Amino acid sequence: MRFEKKELENLRSEGDLNLSPHRRDWVAKHIDGETQRWLDLDARYFLHQSLSTPCLNVLSHCEGTYLEDLQGRRFMDFHGNNVHHVGFANRRVIEAIKDQMDKLAFCTRRYTNIPAIKLAEKLAQLAPGELNKVLLAPAGTAAIGMALKLARMATGRFKTISMWDSFHGASLDAISIGGEGIFRKDAGPLLPGTEHVPPPDCYRCLWGCENDCTLKCADYIEYVLGKEGDVAAVIAETVRSTSVIPPAGFWQKVRAACDAHGALLILDEIPHCLGRTGKMFTCQHFDVVPDMLVIGKGLGGGIFPLAALIAREDLDVAPDRALGHYTHEKNPVACAAALATIECLEEENLLANAERMGHYAMNRLRDMMQQHKLIGAVRGLGLLMGIELVKDRQTKEPATEEAERVMYGTLSRGLSFKVTMGNIITLTPPLTITEQEMDKALNILDECLKEIEEYERKTA
Ligand SMILES: Cc1ncc(COP(=O)(O)O)c(C=O)c1O
Repeated sequence: MRFEKKELENLRSEGDLNLSPHRRDWVAKHIDGETQRWLDLDARYFLHQSLSTPCLNVLSHCEGTYLEDLQGRRFMDFHGNNVHHVGFANRRVIEAIKDQMDKLAFCTRRYTNIPAIKLAEKLAQLAPGELNKVLLAPAGTAAIGMALKLARMATGRFKTISMWDSFHGASLDAISIGGEGIFRKDAGPLLPGTEHVPPPDCYRCLWGCENDCTLKCADYIEYVLGKEGDVAAVIAETVRSTSVIPPAGFWQKVRAACDAHGALLILDEIPHCLGRTGKMFTCQHFDVVPDMLVIGKGLGGGIFPLAALIAREDLDVAPDRALGHYTHEKNPVACAAALATIECLEEENLLANAERMGHYAMNRLRDMMQQHKLIGAVRGLGLLMGIELVKDRQTKEPATEEAERVMYGTLSRGLSFKVTMGNIITLTPPLTITEQEMDKALNILDECLKEIEEYERKTA
């Protein structure tokens, strides 16, 4: 199926699309016959959707920072769907999983198990403030659904305020609060009462604040809370995965507004929890404690799907109803993987490494910005980094075509990352990354930017 360029532009948000001409060119150049046969079979049997099938390539191994494909090529994975905090195929996590499988491989409902209890205790100890009650789920999306239900039950209200461009998962309730067209388009009536507000984006500030921020974005949330009067919760990603970092004071203002209007604050830290930003939880950078924190992704050690809702102790208000009740709720193997992951993060000082390597990379990215006009902005918090490519620094017109070419160019040189919103190169390497690996990746990126700028000059 061929799509018009304009149609594709409107769908760019969560990741690179599999329908673009650049994708077709890359496949034609790099994929051999055997891999193509597997890709064809994959496309034959999986439902097609724009962020996955048809796929780009077939993987055979992953370890540490690297992916390896069927053709034996290795790629540094600076995306990893944000699950590879402790590196792919982490030995400690694998051993914990194997050991647990030999002891208790599943936990039937009505029973509990020691790894699950230890994990809930550990998460309650780690989480800030009164966030002491845990509910586990097999996916971040499911945990978001549980948070929405608990907010309704605890407040007796159903409305929410969330942000345009945000992502909270792919189910109907999650896309109702999410703000990305690619998920919402053609999905039919979504949940009622889901108000959306603009995200706090200092680079593209809708309120025109830019370098002179007066927190109008937070004031607007307070305004909507007041107008509606009966909002159950404000739900948002503490920091957007495109590394759109809210301005200082934003979360405190929103927290105060929620308190003033009887709304709960739910922060979605599914991709960045457990240290990606250099702190265990992203909200700790902003000195704010939500009423509920939703985590996932890296929690399963890059192997198991596992997420958690961590709620304020006094929100334990629904003992007579079912909030989650997922088949794999207290899966002992997933919980053993999570415990081993947290041990790894703590004992190997991976949060400190995330902070140190994040600083190191940001310095290099700032230098690269001096060299490359294509870079309009660089942002980062620990090992969540974003490079916004623009055609012109004044107009800030997104350089989507160029971003895609950079992405396929780096892939050919062994570096994989995600492009979000069409023009933002998002870098999220594992927390185990070394300086040498970081240099290698940034050198590849630098080379590709040079090459593309050179091409632009020649064809101008
Ligand atoms: C911010 C955010 N929330 C929720 C989710 C959904 O998590 P899952 O894919 O585990 O359901 C994601 C996944 O990318 C995410 O990035």
